[in-house]
Amino acid sequence: MSSPKDYIHQHKDRFIQELIDLLKIPSISADSAFAKATHQTAQAVADQLKMAGCDTVEICETPGYPIVYADKIIDKNLPTVLVYGHYDVQPPDPLDLWESGPFEPVIKKTDLHPDGAIFARGACDDKGQMYMHVKAMEYMTQNDALPCNVKFMIEGEEEVGSANLAWYVERNQDKLANDVILISDTGMIAKDIPSITTGLRGLSYVEVEVTGPNRDLHSGLYGGAVANPINVLSKMIASLHDENNHITIPGFYDKVVNLSQNERQKMAEAPFDLEAYKKALDVDAVFGEAGYTTNERNAIRPTLDVNGIWGGYTGEGAKTVIASKAYAKISMRLVPNQDWEDITQLFKSHFEHIAPDGVKVKVTPHHGGQGYVTPIDSVGYRAAEKAYEQTFGKTPIPQRSGGSIPIVSLFEKELKSKTILMGFGLDSDAIHSPNEHFGIWNYLKGIETIPYFYSYFTSMHKDEVDLP
Ligand code: BES
Ligand code: MN
Ligand code: MN
Repeated sequence: MSSPKDYIHQHKDRFIQELIDLLKIPSISADSAFAKATHQTAQAVADQLKMAGCDTVEICETPGYPIVYADKIIDKNLPTVLVYGHYDVQPPDPLDLWESGPFEPVIKKTDLHPDGAIFARGACDDKGQMYMHVKAMEYMTQNDALPCNVKFMIEGEEEVGSANLAWYVERNQDKLANDVILISDTGMIAKDIPSITTGLRGLSYVEVEVTGPNRDLHSGLYGGAVANPINVLSKMIASLHDENNHITIPGFYDKVVNLSQNERQKMAEAPFDLEAYKKALDVDAVFGEAGYTTNERNAIRPTLDVNGIWGGYTGEGAKTVIASKAYAKISMRLVPNQDWEDITQLFKSHFEHIAPDGVKVKVTPHHGGQGYVTPIDSVGYRAAEKAYEQTFGKTPIPQRSGGSIPIVSLFEKELKSKTILMGFGLDSDAIHSPNEHFGIWNYLKGIETIPYFYSYFTSMHKDEVDLP
């Protein structure tokens, strides 16, 4: 029986090659042109789970992309860990900004990754991080080191809102019953500063359409005499923030829970270098809501951002035209207690209300989800903390993240269990951006740390249960 470290050392090249093979399949859930590849990816994940020692492996069809379910139940009296991850990826565009093909993984050394990083769409979000769990499972089954029951649920629609997963979870509560949910789909502060994500933001995503005249018009003949939808939309969007960068939608902040001075103080103790942050993004100043620090702005405060805006003529040269329509896609990141459906409704009413005469406004909600916060005194959190102490030699810092994994709050509601977010990515991994990558060191460190979580969780869970 070898230690995780020794086993990884022996099998490292294969672990990297297998991930590269998985990254070659373009499982872009948002684009139906990639449907075949996305289905193939589900099959590849299922095959690997079988090889890693799972007894049951199923590809569960849904109206969308399938959910890969696998388990190994060794003893009904032992606790069960449910691992969640996703095999779908974001679209890779803009393609011309990639230094190598998004689905032609290459290993390159960078300043932060002297051991090399794998560059490919999905390398970190989430194929690489999901696959750490498959390899940790292989380690445990090959070395007689699996201390409890395991279930895997790997979906293919996370990047498009997990609608079918919600449907599946609601209908399979017994099958998915567990004592803790384990996810690696977030990040950590730095390679030498391990952290555990204790919060995620919620999300409301909407699309707006502003219609002016019934057709595109000559901007000389009509300019100045009818409302220009693009001008109007720009003005409406600009009005959604005031001079302090507070969001102006009435009721938007009503349910926001303000952190105590003590909690804010604790947050501020996490290492953060503002100059390095600005330098990494090539910006000469940060920006945001008055009265809050950068880390507060991107984790504990709600936001509203335009994700895309279009209309009129954007081709080569100039065309003198007043467009009939203008559009924008807008995301609102929410904090725990803000209900995403309420916020979507507040946005819709407000946006319709501020539309001036001469245009019609249509607001179409896309997907959304609730935020999440988890306590740091649960058995799961403490087991994760000990696992990091074991492999990093340091106590991890609890950290709330600004990103969203909407399904986590649904897990708590439907399956009544806490989620532990053991992320091994770095902010600089460029997830959702061109040149996404995942450090090989991070990948292997994840595989090494996960088995310790299982063993600490199993023994601590038992202690907890044994209490009189
Ligand atoms: N893995 C990310 C979320 C994430 C990344 C959380 C880093 C914390 C740190 C996930 O795949 C994602 O991209 N989620 C989307 C929401 C989803 C509904 C499309 C997001 O946050 O934009
Ligand atoms: Mn993800
Ligand atoms: Mn993502």
